[in-house]
Amino acid sequence: EFHLHPKPLHLASDGMLGKFDRQQLQRGFQVYKEVCSACHSARLVAFRDLSEIGFTVPEVKAIAKNWATEVPSVNPETGEPATRKALPSDYIPSPYANETAARAANNNALPPDLSLITKAREGGAPYVHSLLTGYRDPNTYRNEKGEALPADAKPSANLHFNPYYANLNFAMPPPLVADGQVSYADGTKASVDQMAQDVSAFLVWTAEPKLENRHRTGVAVVIFLLIATTLAYFSYQNIWAGRK
Ligand code: HEM
Repeated sequence: EFHLHPKPLHLASDGMLGKFDRQQLQRGFQVYKEVCSACHSARLVAFRDLSEIGFTVPEVKAIAKNWATEVPSVNPETGEPATRKALPSDYIPSPYANETAARAANNNALPPDLSLITKAREGGAPYVHSLLTGYRDPNTYRNEKGEALPADAKPSANLHFNPYYANLNFAMPPPLVADGQVSYADGTKASVDQMAQDVSAFLVWTAEPKLENRHRTGVAVVIFLLIATTLAYFSYQNIWAGRK
């Protein structure tokens, strides 16, 4: 058994009362933009949604306009397919024109859309964090029992050994490789682990941007039920008082 379960990851959005850490979400977006978006789309997130994590309207406009990939469009004169710069109302596009192009660029593997990945994969955000920080050298790797990887489990060309990935051999090359790979505006030190945590937090938001509403509603419901139960108990006492 060489497969590992995700390492624990604690995020501000965890738990019944959890709220997003917007500074962290902004850092995570920066990692997504500067690293992951070279291969992965986030097609359920519109640029304008980024105002919810604290970007201003001019910032959102600039992010969309300067996005590395243009969005599909039509040439108004010829009616031919074309591309144009993204607008705040556009969704974060795939860098590839289509699946064939995506696979051609990735040794036939397909980088999945990341919008819902923390919901789609068992293990959620801790899994993504572990995956990003979990690449190991297949030749020196030892599992908990001290066993070396058998030759037939080692990755073939173009695959990368990662014990957190279900079948151990992962087509995604390690995306976060050096401390300081991105420069955070808020002064946070961009260690590989920090960048992996931040982008995982961002992908929790992309998958459930209304998480805070759900948590707030849950708290209100519990308070309501406590009050309703107390009232019901006292009215019961009152109704049956004197009947023994
Ligand atoms: C798959 C995240 C950057 C190429 C994945 C998966 C995740 C992920 C969560 C799915 C794993 C699974 O199926 O369980 C990220 C993040 C990135 C990033 C957060 C940035 C930090 C990149 C880059 C490339 C890439 C830059 C291209 C050079 C791929 C490919 C797959 C994949 C080809 C499919 C792998 C397979 O099916 O074996 N990525 N990725 N990713 N990613 Fe990335």
